[in-house]
Amino acid sequence: MIKDISTCACINDLALRAKSRLPRFVWNQLEGAAGEGGGACRNEDAFGKILFRAHRLAGPLHATSVEMFGRTYDQPFGIAPMSLADTVWRGTDRAMADLAASCNIPLVLSTGSSSTIERMAQIARDRLWFQIYLRASKTATLDLLNRAWKAGITVLVFTVDYTGEHRWNATLRATDSRWALRTTYRLLDASRRFSWALQRIINGPVRRANLVSYDQASSANFPESGSNEGLTWEDLHFIRNCWRGKLVIKGLMLPDDAHRAISEGVDGIWISNHGGRHLESLPATIHVVGAIREKLGPATPIILDSGIRNGESVLKALALGANMTFIGRPFLYGAGAFGPHGVQHAYNILASEVRIGLKQLGCGTPQDLGRQSIAEVTP
Ligand SMILES: Cc1cc2nc3c(=O)[nH]c(=O)nc-3n(C[C@H](O)[C@H](O)[C@H](O)COP(=O)(O)O)c2cc1C
Repeated sequence: MIKDISTCACINDLALRAKSRLPRFVWNQLEGAAGEGGGACRNEDAFGKILFRAHRLAGPLHATSVEMFGRTYDQPFGIAPMSLADTVWRGTDRAMADLAASCNIPLVLSTGSSSTIERMAQIARDRLWFQIYLRASKTATLDLLNRAWKAGITVLVFTVDYTGEHRWNATLRATDSRWALRTTYRLLDASRRFSWALQRIINGPVRRANLVSYDQASSANFPESGSNEGLTWEDLHFIRNCWRGKLVIKGLMLPDDAHRAISEGVDGIWISNHGGRHLESLPATIHVVGAIREKLGPATPIILDSGIRNGESVLKALALGANMTFIGRPFLYGAGAFGPHGVQHAYNILASEVRIGLKQLGCGTPQDLGRQSIAEVTP
């Protein structure tokens, strides 16, 4: 059993410890994946099958930084939007915002986050981006966008790959439809995870902080409650017209969709299958990035997430066409394993792996990566 944080050598070690410390229903929420989880596994496995070509005698590493929308970040990865992160451990949102500020990486705040836009912007400052799900109420959507802009946020991420429903088999098997039994089971489960239960008792329930003022009743069920369903290109126009900052569309997997989005005024494409959370039989994102880059040409900013569990995977994504990557669950594994310190530890692991990987590949900067850095891509 791993006890000391320094003995957690990789993201998987954090995941194992988080799983042992969290009640099962919290772990299932964090890890949740469509169907039997085949899509989530495929994302990770696909990275593992790609091998590098290491150029030797190529000189020193100068920087790990990348530029995105006119701003330089210290790492080629940021923190993906994750709703209700404080359910995993109280203070996770705060820890992620502190990390973004101190290590100069972007953090995308979810519409359904457990902390408000205003509070998170105070901490993360100009490293904070905002992610929007289209609310059933356009007034609420507009208000959220205004709040983000007023808080100084200039990059908006519009997520289009969630339709309000999913089936996570592991969660369904563990959830009794009878309220009394379900609640008893959860209480028993939580009481066996003493440190988690204690911090929850002290801090009280976690809420979707940005949404409580709009619709108190439905914010508990967000985003199931009538949002983001049946989206069309008209909805993209609506968001584009309401937002004067940079706009990224998150959840695209096809070159034609990406091309159309750019022609409709989007500033960047975020290739994502939501970490395999909503549709099991999608290709791994690393397998579609090459075709999307080819379709869009070299100038369009491309972001990729889903399945990145180490720094080498970050470098593979850049080599195959992404400008930047984002990472989701690993930061929550850190929080589940060690509370807020674990979020920093997840960063430390990833940053160190990125640095070592770039040195090994003979790259002075992440921009030196390219197709020439890859030996083979096995589907
Ligand atoms: C607990 C959790 C909550 C999430 N909530 C959101 C969300 O509110 N909005 C969103 O666009 N994506 C959300 N995502 C998806 C992530 O932004 C990201 O696409 C995904 O986690 C990347 O895969 P990875 O976890 O394998 O890195 C969530 C993911 C997790 C694990």
